[in-house]
Amino acid sequence: MNNDKVQIFDTTLRDGEQVPGCKLDTKQKLVIAERLDFLGVDIIEAGFPVSSPGDFTSVNEIAKLVKNATVCGLTRAVKKDIEVAAEALKIAKRPRIHTGIGTSDSHIKYKFNSSQDEVIRRGFEAVSYAKNFVDDVEFYAEDAGRTDNAFLAKVCEEMIKAGATVLNIPDTTGYCLPEEYGAKIKYLKENVKGIENVIISCHCHNDLGLATANSIAGAINGARQIECTINGIGERAGNTALEEVVMILKQHPYLNLQTDINTQLLYDTSLMVRESMGMPVQPNKAIVGANAFAHSSGIHQDGVIKNRETYEIINPADVGVTESAIVLTARSGRAALAYRAKKIGYELTKIQLDSAYRTFLSFADKQKEVIDDDIHMIMKQVNKVSKIAIA
Ligand code: KIV
Ligand code: ZN
Repeated sequence: MNNDKVQIFDTTLRDGEQVPGCKLDTKQKLVIAERLDFLGVDIIEAGFPVSSPGDFTSVNEIAKLVKNATVCGLTRAVKKDIEVAAEALKIAKRPRIHTGIGTSDSHIKYKFNSSQDEVIRRGFEAVSYAKNFVDDVEFYAEDAGRTDNAFLAKVCEEMIKAGATVLNIPDTTGYCLPEEYGAKIKYLKENVKGIENVIISCHCHNDLGLATANSIAGAINGARQIECTINGIGERAGNTALEEVVMILKQHPYLNLQTDINTQLLYDTSLMVRESMGMPVQPNKAIVGANAFAHSSGIHQDGVIKNRETYEIINPADVGVTESAIVLTARSGRAALAYRAKKIGYELTKIQLDSAYRTFLSFADKQKEVIDDDIHMIMKQVNKVSKIAIA
């Protein structure tokens, strides 16, 4: 079995941080960068150095701090951007410049009022120029998701000639379907001369909720780098969520695709990012949401109490969550009440449980969730009636 490594390119500090309200200062960025390095990401996109003096300083400080990961800075296909990024990154152990230009008809026409040939020329010049400063140059074909495949292949071929080491194929607008995005990567693998010498990267946005699915389709079809953010934060509906792609590849070993991420740090890293960015995570968010390992319906709770695998495909400990939660609501059954009561010291006989369950339902119908304090109260009430032995 040939296990292929998929590099994890984290852009929490660049694509993630550009979201309104998520702005971080240099100190906060350093804390997150250190955690990302510890988590095992392969590349940290630290910022867009030319965008502001603050971002330059952050990229520069991260370049000094990071021990293992490649540190990357974003640029447009503009000489000044590239010079500033090179300066910010010059102390990094493994620096990468990420440069590029829009390649879709819409970008060429409306953003640049230009032509396909001119876009290729500018991209070629940018990659060649960046190569004067660093060996590792990634090229992004912005809006590749809506770029004609034949033209995209031509762009890629030229950027390889210019010296690009990584070709980023962003679905900038989150438009593609997984089959379509996967086919795009396959097309590039089959039609670009020299493609075997570079890494293809997926950078998918989540406008239709397909960022993760598209990135996985890309990897299945030959991409070996996925660009993502913690909690999926990013422009508009966000980017591909790091924790999702990592766990998908881990839970589906037959794909023979693996990452170097220490998955047990995923939950804590998610908490760290949501707290420092002030960006909460929806409770039903895959992997790191508050309800990702919580069971509330009676049927599910009964199954999970008998064997966790009946309703859980991930061991919570694998992502750093201590245990699954059995949440008590009016939809819960006797098994869940007995389980939670036992956890706080009450061992109930069948008759005692029947009686406690009736009282429990009258509590549960009045409130959203029955918590431990309520269970103590229920046990006291039932104890008076049916002499429950309190352990
Ligand atoms: O979404 C996008 O196309 C980007 C590029 C700048 C890589 O973020
Ligand atoms: Zn993006």
